[in-house]
Amino acid sequence: MEIIVKDTVEEMSQVAARIVARTLNAKPNAVLGLATGSTPLGLYKELVRMHREDGLDFSQVTTFNLDEYVGLKQKHPQSYHYFMDENLFKHINIPKQNIYIPSGTTDNYEAFCAWYERRICECGGIDLQVLGIGSDGHIAFNEPSSSLGSRTRIKTLAKQTIDDNARFFASPEEVPIYAITMGVGTILEADRIILLAHGKNKADAVAKAIEGPVTSVITASALQLHRDVMYIVDREAASSLDMLEYYEWIQDNMVHAP
Ligand code: GLP
Repeated sequence: MEIIVKDTVEEMSQVAARIVARTLNAKPNAVLGLATGSTPLGLYKELVRMHREDGLDFSQVTTFNLDEYVGLKQKHPQSYHYFMDENLFKHINIPKQNIYIPSGTTDNYEAFCAWYERRICECGGIDLQVLGIGSDGHIAFNEPSSSLGSRTRIKTLAKQTIDDNARFFASPEEVPIYAITMGVGTILEADRIILLAHGKNKADAVAKAIEGPVTSVITASALQLHRDVMYIVDREAASSLDMLEYYEWIQDNMVHAP
């Protein structure tokens, strides 16, 4: 695992955007796995800027989003469909038919989840997966106790996640309690993974994910099993890491800057 510590969210977002851009330059028809939440907003803003100013081309790109709330219509302002459209898709030249986001309103979740997994395979698998992390250490909506081999399915959200995400809804009662999410096993099949985290309330989850044991209680810890993972974090999110000095020493002596 590589751990990159940056002073600001802007710098983190730029590192992540450069990685996405390099992926697309090397493989214009790359398959990206995308995340929602406040963390990747800076990355999406930078990608939109690169598209407008530097001509970063998404015309052959395919994307798969990690998750969606069950029960929210696509047009609901808190749905992940709406989020992705507002913050990325409507500003870039990705063809609509290349965008995949789990459906929160299908009448057959089991069939939908199986189809979603199949589509990822049919498109050649995910080349680069972008992740955030929940304050309880979850990735996508793989809450504590999710199997580390899990696939796309419905999950019941943890109380902490509902409380964390209540800030986006008018009241905590409005936060859906179920989500459809790629599994930990699905995520681990991506060729390359970058996980972004900033702020003090992620410090504990980041430390447990990187330095703790691999456990279904902190599903991000499963990334320790992946061969190509980069954590891009700010100083606050890095503040509980025991080996921070070592990671920074590696960062300062990298042959190729990320
Ligand atoms: C939700 C999403 C995750 C995201 C997490 C953190 O639970 N399903 O993919 O990583 O929120 O969100 P934020 O970036 O807003 O802290």
